[in-house]
Order: sequence, then C-alpha cells, then structure tokens
Amino acid sequence: MARKKIALVGGGQIGGILALLVAQRELGDAVVVEIPEREGVAKGKTLDISEATPLLGKDAKLSGTANFEDMKGADVVIVTAGVPRKPGMSREDLLDVNIKTMTVVAQSVQKYCPKAFCIIVTNPLDAMVYSFKKITGFPKSQVVGMAGVLDTGRFNSFVAMELGVSVQDVAATVLGGHGPTMVPLPRLCTVGGIPLTELLPKDKIDAIVTRTREAGTEIVKLLGNGSAFFSPAIAAIDMAESYLKDKKRILACAAYLEGEYGIKGYYIGVPVIIGAGGVEKVLELKLNDEEKAMLASSLDAVKKAVEETKL
Ligand code: 2OP
Repeated sequence: MARKKIALVGGGQIGGILALLVAQRELGDAVVVEIPEREGVAKGKTLDISEATPLLGKDAKLSGTANFEDMKGADVVIVTAGVPRKPGMSREDLLDVNIKTMTVVAQSVQKYCPKAFCIIVTNPLDAMVYSFKKITGFPKSQVVGMAGVLDTGRFNSFVAMELGVSVQDVAATVLGGHGPTMVPLPRLCTVGGIPLTELLPKDKIDAIVTRTREAGTEIVKLLGNGSAFFSPAIAAIDMAESYLKDKKRILACAAYLEGEYGIKGYYIGVPVIIGAGGVEKVLELKLNDEEKAMLASSLDAVKKAVEETKL
C-alpha cells in the first residue's frame, strides 16, 4: 500500500510540529508548503526531521516547498498558515490578514488535491473554516476545524491538575466557537467514570471553565510573541489520524451544521465522529437551558466573525 500524503500548509510553529508528529506516528509522507520568502524554513525544518527519522526508527519522507502544486494528490491537508495573535489581540483581530491567506490556500487545495480531508487550524477558527468551505465548495464531511479537541485537552488537563489524578481518566467535551464564549460541559465530564460534579465543588469547576475559555490567551501572554503550538498540533494530528486509520473517534470539532443544535449554515464546535468518510456524523447532545443559552451566545460571536469574511 502506498504511503499516504499529508500536506501541511504553513511551516510555522504548529506546522513544524505537525511534520514531526506525522513522522513519529508514521502516518505517511509530509510536504510543508510555505510562502516563497519562507521556503527555506519549510525545507530546513523538514530536512531536520528527516535526519531524525532514523533516530525515531520511523519511515517518512518529508519535504518543504513554496509551490502549491507539490500538494498534488494529498490525502489530508492541514492548514495552519496565517499570523498568530500577539498579547492584547483577540482571534478576530486576525481576520482581515488571514482571510487573504485562506482564500489562496482554499483555491490551491481545490486545484491540486480536491479529494483531501481538510483540517483548518488558522484563527479566527470558526470563520476561517467557514471561508475554506465556501471557497472550495467541498462537502461538509471533507472540511473540519480544529478547536474542540484542543479546548477539551485544556479542560481535561486542568481537571487532572486540580484533582491530582491521571489525565488518562478524564473525559469531557467542549462545544461552541473557539474563543472566550466556548461552552465546556462539566455536567458531562467524568473522571474514572465518576461525574466531575461529585468530585469538585462548583466554585472549583467554575474556575476550570473560566481558565479553559482563556487558555489560549494565557499562553499568548506568557509567550509574548505567538500563540500555543504543541497542543494545537497534537489536536490536529489526532483528527488526521482518526481519518487516515478510520478510527471513528468521537472528537469535538468545528463542524458545518445544517439544523443540528438548531444551528444552520455555520461552523461551530460539536462532538463528531471522524473516520474514513471524514466528518461522518455530528452527535447531538441534550443540553439544559443554561448550556443552550451559552451555545446561542457563542453562535452570535461566530456569526459576527463570519459576517466580516463577506463570503
Ligand atoms: C489557541 O487557542 C492557537 O487558537 C489557538 O491557543
């Protein structure tokens, strides 16, 4: 069986780690696509990882390019291209710049690898993935946004820290847009099969919810220049792996809704099944009134960003 091909559009902090993860998990061969001024970065990072493949004991071909044509025939495309936030900026502040990049990327993907499963990571996430789908005209099963896996990872890590237990035993989900309006669902979180609500008092849970909503901003402030990259890369690779191996994992992702959760025509974070068919199914949860209201206000924030794309 021929190896799969994974095109990584953007060779920045996330793109570089994505390339390493592709090799480490032996998911296929990776091509990192950059703008001409940064072709050397794409080539340098992928050569560096190639030289580590014997040390990893993994077989993968990695290459860097500034030619979109090199994406030809890719099975998966992960888009991280665009600028990250600086301290004091919201994700929406990136829209004007990143929509231009997203337009070129979407047109190139449509031209060179129209069958690829596309995972969008660029911010503001919900508006960028919406734009990518609009421009390519790809079916909703083929285009998904990475946000909920990361936000859930953050929530789970804070729960494990607070309880002093293994992260492996925490299971939760986070709905909504990728921003301060996101909707973590502590009501449905379990730790070793025990409801979180029986293990922690309300004030502690509320603090975890608040920290999760601001977790990306917390890292932007600490780094001083750029945003999180390890966890977003791992989150996106988990999604790609579920597709490539038809694992049918249930992952919180930005999915295009057509009536689920009473939402139509927008991308927003919901639990989905990712398998060989791409986004195979959106899972609809029964929400209580408070959760419904939070999701509605998150949708308002997403709509505002989408309007600005003028698509
Ligand atoms: C974050 O939340 C990069 O938006 C991403 O860190």
